[in-house]
Amino acid sequence: DWTTGNVIEEQVARIKAQIGDGKVICALSGGVDSAVAGALVQRAVGDQLTCVFVDHGLLRAGEAEQVEKDFVAATGVKLHVVDAVQRFADALDGVSDPEQKRKIIGREFIRVFEQAARDVVAKEGTDGGEVRFLVQGTLYPDVVESGGGTGAATIKSHHNVGGLPDDLAFELVEPLRALFKDEVRAVGVQLGLPEAMVYRQPFPGPGLAIRIVGAVTPERLEILRAADAIARAELTAAGLDRDIWQCPVVLLADVRSVGVQGDGRTYGHPVVLRPVSSEDAMTADWTRLPYDVLARISTRITNEVPEVNRVVLDVTSKPPGTIEWE
Ligand code: XMP
Repeated sequence: DWTTGNVIEEQVARIKAQIGDGKVICALSGGVDSAVAGALVQRAVGDQLTCVFVDHGLLRAGEAEQVEKDFVAATGVKLHVVDAVQRFADALDGVSDPEQKRKIIGREFIRVFEQAARDVVAKEGTDGGEVRFLVQGTLYPDVVESGGGTGAATIKSHHNVGGLPDDLAFELVEPLRALFKDEVRAVGVQLGLPEAMVYRQPFPGPGLAIRIVGAVTPERLEILRAADAIARAELTAAGLDRDIWQCPVVLLADVRSVGVQGDGRTYGHPVVLRPVSSEDAMTADWTRLPYDVLARISTRITNEVPEVNRVVLDVTSKPPGTIEWE
């Protein structure tokens, strides 16, 4: 019968059987699925695994450190970090169209990951087995969804690892294929992963780039990161993390409004709070957050982030609004 311990034992045995003495790589995104999948493979084959983390500079405050320090400390995994912050900044320079942003980020990610995979192959290939396996954090609902394609129109181009070139042919290792999200989290906890990683709410692959309405710049990313960190901290302090599906914070970077602070006029940007309740992200309702929590978030953001002088609340359900603004 189903226990977390059984799942781990069974998957570890399967992974060992599949990989043998081969080499394997895993792309970490900062999210729970890739982290748990990587940790399971690490548990099974140890040093035969190299994890790759592409730092594209679009994660939230503390998330890169979570991967580079906490995840490594918890698992002992061999980690290859690629600092691609400048590269993504250059590629996104001057781009404000949402689909354009998504395509650029997807494309750059594949290119950087491809090169990282080659580097790992070059390094690991010399001492015996070749890198032949690629870990994917595919969950059961993903398996079901891709089986029943309905040809629905693309609303947004989602970004995931895939589409690697043929000469980098990998056999996939997908230890989460039979699991639902809550089961993946239970496995993650049992494997000793950082709580913040295991219970992270959904966060889009293109990261903060699609939460800046307007062109992405390093300065705008800093502003959004600061505002987002405050909103997250206050929601956590209020014990609301498990009640909301997620709460994107969106920077309206091309909008300015007049305000007053201290004894001076301000002309700053608004940020939008987008708290939503949902079962599966296909539909969502806006979450009726307590007014005092909203008040604290608003006061802190406008006090602590000088470029932001207004905090607004998105009260749109999905449909018609999507959860993310881009
Ligand atoms: P939307 O905005 O389409 O979002 O209502 C639905 C859910 O998907 C997340 N999301 C993404 N996740 N890659 C991802 O892995 C993406 O490109 C992406 N875009 C949106 C979003 O955060 C929400 O949970």
